[in-house]
Amino acid sequence: MNHDENKAKLTRPRPVRESASEMSEIVLPNDANPLNALLGGRLMHWIDLAGAMAAHRHSRTYVVTASIDHLDFLVPVRVGDFVILRSSVNRVFHSSMEVGVKVWVENYRAEERRHVSSAYLTFVAIDAAGNKVAVPPVVPETEDERRRYDGAARRREIRRAESARRKEVRS
Ligand SMILES: CC(C)(COP(=O)(O)OP(=O)(O)OC[C@H]1O[C@@H](n2cnc3c(N)ncnc32)[C@H](O)[C@@H]1OP(=O)(O)O)[C@@H](O)C(=O)NCCC(=O)NCCS
Repeated sequence: MNHDENKAKLTRPRPVRESASEMSEIVLPNDANPLNALLGGRLMHWIDLAGAMAAHRHSRTYVVTASIDHLDFLVPVRVGDFVILRSSVNRVFHSSMEVGVKVWVENYRAEERRHVSSAYLTFVAIDAAGNKVAVPPVVPETEDERRRYDGAARRREIRRAESARRKEVRS
């Protein structure tokens, strides 16, 4: 494959399914507080990694986390539980993309899977020198993907308004 063909391959629009990722962890004592419950910070770290996987797969370049929206931890997670994280790119803007990460806890003894958290992260694509680079568009194909795609535009407006408000408070 020559240089132009390779570039065309890397910059083509990609369907959401090509970057959708799944990550699984077994919660160990080192991930937990003295009551054997998973630390919120550890889960945030896993959410960041799961989100980055989808962002890298989609953009085929380096990325940095620009922001993570509000996070709720809905149910406790215990040592020995499995944590399953699924991520996908919801929408690309220019150099940034919104990635959604959904987290479940699975207890194999109780044959139970519960929703723990959902997060929206914004990643910005950069080159090896740290310069921002354009990201190829993402193509939503399913009804859920189109719903997330539309929602991402609304969330971006909210983020921008919030960011402007915070700037005003700081000045
Ligand atoms: C994120 C970062 C690259 C943005 O750089 P910047 O020069 O302020 O960027 P710009 O204002 O030109 O915005 C670039 C893009 O990032 C988006 N962006 C910037 N800050 C953002 C934020 N807080 N939340 C969401 N998106 C953000 C902009 O909307 C823009 O998107 P677009 O190109 O798709 O339109 C820069 O702030 C940075 O490097 N931060 C540190 C990132 C990092 O190290 N993360 C790891 C945790 S420490």
